[in-house]
Amino acid sequence: TRNVIIDTDPGIDDAIAILFALSVKGLTVRGITTVAGNIGLSNTTRNALRILALADRSDIAVYPGADKPLTRPGISEEKIHGTDGLGGVTFPDPQSAAQDGDAVTYLAAALNAAQERTLDILALGPLTNIARLIQTDPDAARRIGRLIAMGGAIDEPGNVGPRAEFNIANDPEAAEIVLQSGLPITLIPLDVTRQVRADRAYLDRLAALGTPKASTARALIEAYFASTTGGESRPLHDPCVPVFALRPDLFGCERTGLSVNTDEADRGALTRADSHPIDVTMTVDAPVALDLLARALG
Ligand code: BDR
Ligand code: CA
Repeated sequence: TRNVIIDTDPGIDDAIAILFALSVKGLTVRGITTVAGNIGLSNTTRNALRILALADRSDIAVYPGADKPLTRPGISEEKIHGTDGLGGVTFPDPQSAAQDGDAVTYLAAALNAAQERTLDILALGPLTNIARLIQTDPDAARRIGRLIAMGGAIDEPGNVGPRAEFNIANDPEAAEIVLQSGLPITLIPLDVTRQVRADRAYLDRLAALGTPKASTARALIEAYFASTTGGESRPLHDPCVPVFALRPDLFGCERTGLSVNTDEADRGALTRADSHPIDVTMTVDAPVALDLLARALG
């Protein structure tokens, strides 16, 4: 089983990704770190605790991290994820409190305590915490097994700008630090996440499973249908990250360097570059990924 720490800004699709990671055989969630993104840090932290309560896993520690991007104000996603960040979907109250320590200190300690290259980080939000780890403790960062991050748009249009995706655009300076760090990185851009789509039939399938996790995932996707436009189905962005951690064979990767545009005008746009190459997923076996998600939530 792969040991993972989830760095996240829940977030409707973050919540589905976390519920999946907590349920599926083959992944062991060691801890959760939170970051400001879809909504402010106090809400993303509280949401992580609510998700753990629903999954009956309040034994997992939650460490709050950055409350804003490295150098500039964040972009609000309230219209999509609701004022609570989870689309107003019913969750139990937290059954545990957030830890006092900071996310970056925890990440460094966890990486130093684990055998080298055995701990993966699943990054579901802006990369602020990961950039701070690389800046403050590069030796600990080098112990990461693989950083698997949802972010960016390569050949696809963006979702917060013509070429920019939210996680990268929210903190482009952090993304640039991470992408040039030389760490083993797999980036999962919109090019792939837009292929992994939930339609009405998929919602019916989740409802029929009848478990609290599947019913909650269904309600979260319903909220996402209500807050966004896009026809008959919606993309499941962040769940692609734990699916990749478990089944990298379902994805096809391109190996390329990427540079991040940090000008405000095209903030967060990615361009292929000659810099240190990373793995960027460009294809996915979507039916198998969706089936894996549903089965684990059931
Ligand atoms: C990403 O942005 C957030 O709104 C989602 O949770 C996902 O991480 C998609 O662009
Ligand atoms: Ca997210």
